[in-house]
Amino acid sequence: MQIRELEEGDFGSWSSLILSVYDEIPFATTFEKRPSADELAALMKKKLEGMRDRTVVDFVAVDNGGVVADCEIAKSTETGGLIGILVAREQRRGGIGRRLIEKCADRAKLYKMLEVYAEIDDRNEGAAAFFAACGFREQDGEDSLTMIRNL
Ligand SMILES: CC(C)(COP(=O)(O)OP(=O)(O)OC[C@H]1O[C@@H](n2cnc3c(N)ncnc32)[C@H](O)[C@@H]1OP(=O)(O)O)[C@@H](O)C(=O)NCCC(=O)NCCS
Repeated sequence: MQIRELEEGDFGSWSSLILSVYDEIPFATTFEKRPSADELAALMKKKLEGMRDRTVVDFVAVDNGGVVADCEIAKSTETGGLIGILVAREQRRGGIGRRLIEKCADRAKLYKMLEVYAEIDDRNEGAAAFFAACGFREQDGEDSLTMIRNL
């Protein structure tokens, strides 16, 4: 398993990962409907541009040449970033999610981010337990579940 930054050539397997998680648990993704190939291409372009101007951190886990997990931290406030993470179903509970978070957190710190937020759907109990295990704590005063970790 290799952990490295997202690259343009990952588009095919990265798209398959996003679609498979969308089909499994749509509310764990940021999409309100199943994304089209054009929408995925636009998202990939936005990520790569953000990585170039240091407003986005994005690391993937690659197995047999294909992306099996993706973690993004996108600058969302003056000092904070919003995290999104997806691990392929058959690869979960093997520590990939935790490794990706640590990799992204180190880079986000270099990019002068001080804290990272996770916005979690109430139905996604597994994700809340995962973020808690990775050092996030619940943030008070929010309608939906938001968890925060200082970097
Ligand atoms: C949440 C997710 C990213 C976790 O990735 P992962 O690679 O399975 O996580 P790890 O193996 O690194 O887990 C680290 C620790 O988090 C906790 N954890 C992870 N998944 C958990 C779950 N479903 N239920 C309870 N605890 C969980 C455990 O303490 C785990 O350590 P352990 O396996 O030694 O007990 C993955 O389940 C996923 O992609 N889910 C679908 C998408 C999603 O919900 N993303 C978050 C959107 S906000």
